[in-house]
Amino acid sequence: MTTLLQINTSIFSDGGQSSRLAERFVAAWRESNPGGTLIVRDFAKEPVPHIDAGRFGAFLAKPAERTSEQQVVVDYSDALIDELKRADVIVLGLPMYNFGLPSTLKAYFDHVARVGVTFRYTEKGPVGLVTGKKVYVFAARGGLYAGTPRDTQTQYVRDFLAFLGMNDVEFVYAEGLAVSETAKHQGIARAYAQIDRLAGREVALA
Ligand SMILES: Cc1cc2nc3c(=O)[nH]c(=O)nc-3n(C[C@H](O)[C@H](O)[C@H](O)COP(=O)(O)O)c2cc1C
Repeated sequence: MTTLLQINTSIFSDGGQSSRLAERFVAAWRESNPGGTLIVRDFAKEPVPHIDAGRFGAFLAKPAERTSEQQVVVDYSDALIDELKRADVIVLGLPMYNFGLPSTLKAYFDHVARVGVTFRYTEKGPVGLVTGKKVYVFAARGGLYAGTPRDTQTQYVRDFLAFLGMNDVEFVYAEGLAVSETAKHQGIARAYAQIDRLAGREVALA
């Protein structure tokens, strides 16, 4: 049975364009996977706290030496990681805010990158331990960035996911959403068409 983890990171929760793109894909996935498990994480409803020295110290402390406060921090991070590891398919809504990714998503990344848990260092470099996942990223932007050096998100997200072992990553972009009403409609229509093609392929694979 397949498990899909949907991560919405828009400040507008499920009303955000990135969340709506993700939702279109997930709705098709549910139809083709009636017995599948869907886990939804929404950072607008439940933001991940920013990492600080205390939290990072908790991750590094030896299990037997953790204080009860540190254990709470580690338990929270472990729960996020368990969710990630359980998923076969990961759907990530990715808005662009001020030329970068939402700070809540960065905070999430800071909580799931744990040495010995999601990656380990070897003589040949770091090796990701979160493997066998298919990741779909649904990016929404006011302007136009895809394929240009001003796209700060695509390479960064690819690099981070690959660091944890996730190399099978597909991006769908809805761009130009703040350019004009026409550009917005075109951007969304193009993204929807791509999602429907992807969802069709998922159905074929199911
Ligand atoms: C706080 C904020 C900052 C934004 N910064 C940018 C930006 O730097 N570049 C851009 O192209 N669009 C920017 N936008 C427009 C968003 O990318 C666009 O509204 C997109 O739909 C956001 O995704 P969401 O609807 O899923 O939240 C910004 C929007 C907000 C609310």
